[in-house]
This record gives sequence, structure tokens and C-alpha cells, in this order.
Amino acid sequence: METLQARYATVRKHTLALAEPLSDEDCGAQSMPDASPIKWHLAHTTWFFETFILERMERGFAPFHPAFRILFNSYYNGIGEKHPRPQRGLLTRPSMAEVRAYRANVDGRIARLLAGELDAARRAELAMLITLGVQHEQQHQELMLTDVKHLLAQSLLRPAYMAIPLPAAAVAAPLAWQSFDGGLAEIGHRGDGFSFDNELPRHKQYVAPFALASRLVTNGEYLAFINAGGYFNAALWLAEGWDWVRTQNLKAPIYWFQDEQGAWQEFTLHGPQPLDLQRPVTHVSLFEADAYAHWAGARLPTEAEWEYAAAHGQAPIETGSLHPAGAGGAAGLRQMFGHCWQWTSSSYAPYPGFAAAEGALGEYNGKFMLNQYVLRGSSCATPEGHARASYRNFFPAGARWQFTGIRLARQV
Ligand SMILES: [Fe+2]
Repeated sequence: METLQARYATVRKHTLALAEPLSDEDCGAQSMPDASPIKWHLAHTTWFFETFILERMERGFAPFHPAFRILFNSYYNGIGEKHPRPQRGLLTRPSMAEVRAYRANVDGRIARLLAGELDAARRAELAMLITLGVQHEQQHQELMLTDVKHLLAQSLLRPAYMAIPLPAAAVAAPLAWQSFDGGLAEIGHRGDGFSFDNELPRHKQYVAPFALASRLVTNGEYLAFINAGGYFNAALWLAEGWDWVRTQNLKAPIYWFQDEQGAWQEFTLHGPQPLDLQRPVTHVSLFEADAYAHWAGARLPTEAEWEYAAAHGQAPIETGSLHPAGAGGAAGLRQMFGHCWQWTSSSYAPYPGFAAAEGALGEYNGKFMLNQYVLRGSSCATPEGHARASYRNFFPAGARWQFTGIRLARQV
């Protein structure tokens, strides 16, 4: 329990540290319905502990504020009413100071619960719920970075979240194909350590022989696709993707722009940067990833292929700045973790035998298993210790405000 308390405290502190470079004005704004204000993230992650732990387990529970139960409920119908998601940016009250006080209050009460007397069954339940709450908060830490990036990108001032310049990346080794025999593979979380329910149960799946690209697609390679008219060639796009790209008149990834001389720049959390041709392309939708793969004579991997390769190949977890780094010249399977989430062609669906938890917490993952695609790996915004080979991230095909990139696959 001491370790759990330490883990809880570390993760909670890191969330506050992420808000540190931002003003109160930055923290209150919402740039689109998909993104939430930083202040809302700070409060909602606290709400999670208050609602799913304190309300259940604290003697004489009384809410910090009764309205917070609705204001900071994200999507749990089992809990009750919710403040509408597109209107999170209208919450000028509570203030940042009040939200910080809410965090401190809940932190104190969780610490007292962890230090108090509980029978073995309640203690095990508490440990499970704290672990889930900590993992949930880490997911929001990544969203805080991607949401604030989208927000800062709205201003022509193009402010840097982190005023540390990005060095030019080393030349990326030519893309190589790594072959895998496949066969009857075991897919899903292995059973030791934490996983989300959507990674279970581990099950057998047949994986035909395939090859995976040794690294992610670079900005330079993606620019060649743009220069070849990729965004204007209907033959490369899924029907829905073509409608998506033409309706919005898209010509490049979301944060790319051209300066007055016509040179490509990329907005990053480190501010605007000249487009680094050696770094991976990021912030592309599934539609763009699929069209690129088509153009390159390849395809996207299935999630089973990706997981099989991560388990059988060398896949170190690389961490660095708040922008995906280049692959450099090293051999082997690179950039599987720590740079860009990688789109797969797999629909986000339950594994055979999937069972959601009882009650409102069962809404965590299961109810989103429709009309979304699985992404594998982790990104430069994923907190340390949060990535694993069986992790299933998911977004709709048009989403591109996450650090999403392209890893190609093909038949052998
Ligand atoms: Fe959440």
C-alpha cells in the first residue's frame, strides 16, 4: 500500500507539472469538442478517484462539491447526468485555484484511506481501483499534451508549450522490411501486471506470414506523397476518406503549414519548426495513413501482426522530447514505442470472450467498440511506464490531433 501511495502521489504530481507552463487562460479554453480544457482534465481525473473510490469506500462520504459529480463526469451513464462535452470550455467556474484545492482535498482523503484499516477484500478492491485511477490519469496526461497542442495551434502567435528547440534528426536509415513467420499466435495481455479490460482475454489468432517496415514513415517520404498529388488522387483513398479529404480541402497533416517562401513548417509543442524530413510524419488520420500506404504499394498492419512483431522482434521503448524523434541509422525494428501511435487496419472490437466490468466502470472501454480503429505502440506524449505490446488505443478514422503515425506492412 505504501508503494501504491507513492505511485499515486507521483502520477498526481506529474499531472500538475504538465499544467505548469500554461496560464490560467490557456487552461480554461477548449479548441474543439474532441479536446478538453486542461482545467477540466485536472478536475475530471480527480473526480474519477472521488466517484469510484471515495464515494464507495470512505466512511461518512460527502462530496467536495455536489455539482462536480455532473460537471466532471466524462461519459459514465451509470453515474448519472453529465455536463455536455462541447461546452467544457464554458466552465470559467470553478477557477483553477478551486480545481487545485479539489485535487489536494481528494489526494488527502485517498492517502487517509490507504493508510487506514481495511479487511483483505476491501484492501484488494482499493488497490485495484487506485491502480485503474492512476492508469486513467496517465491516459489523460497524454490527452492534456495533445489537447493543449491543438489549442496553441489556433493562434498565429504559435506559442511553444516547451521552449526547448528540437535538434535536427540524424538521417533515417532506408526503410527495410522485417519478415515474420506468423502462425498460431497468442494475442492479448499475458496476465502479469496491469492491463485494461479491452486487452483481455489473451487468445489464439492465426497470423499469416507478413513483413513489417523497420521504422515509421518519415516527413520526407510523406512529402513525396503530397508532391505526387496524393491528396488529389481519388484512386488512393477509401470512399469515406476521399469525402473527408475533399470536404475539408485538406492538403497536408494537421500541423503542417508553409511559410512566406513556401517552405514547409510544422507546429510542435516546441513551437514552429522547419519540417524535419528525417522525423516521422505525425498527426495523420487513418484515412491519410491508408492512402499513403496504398500509394507506397503497401498496407497498414493488422493489430495482431503489430503485436506479434512487438513480441518477437526487438522493440525498445524510446523516450525523449515532446515530438517524435528520427529513427537514425540503427538496424532492427525501431520506433515501435515512444514516438507515434501506429494506425492498424483493425476495427476496435471485443476480443472473443471479452467481458466488461460490472457497473459504471464497465463503461470504461467496452461501449466504444464501434466505428473506431485500433492504434498500437505509444507516442512521445505517453507517460513513462504506460506502454506495452498488448495496449489497444482507439480513435475514429478521421482523428488526427493525437501523435499518430504510419508503419507499413506487406505480404511476404
Ligand atoms: Fe477519463
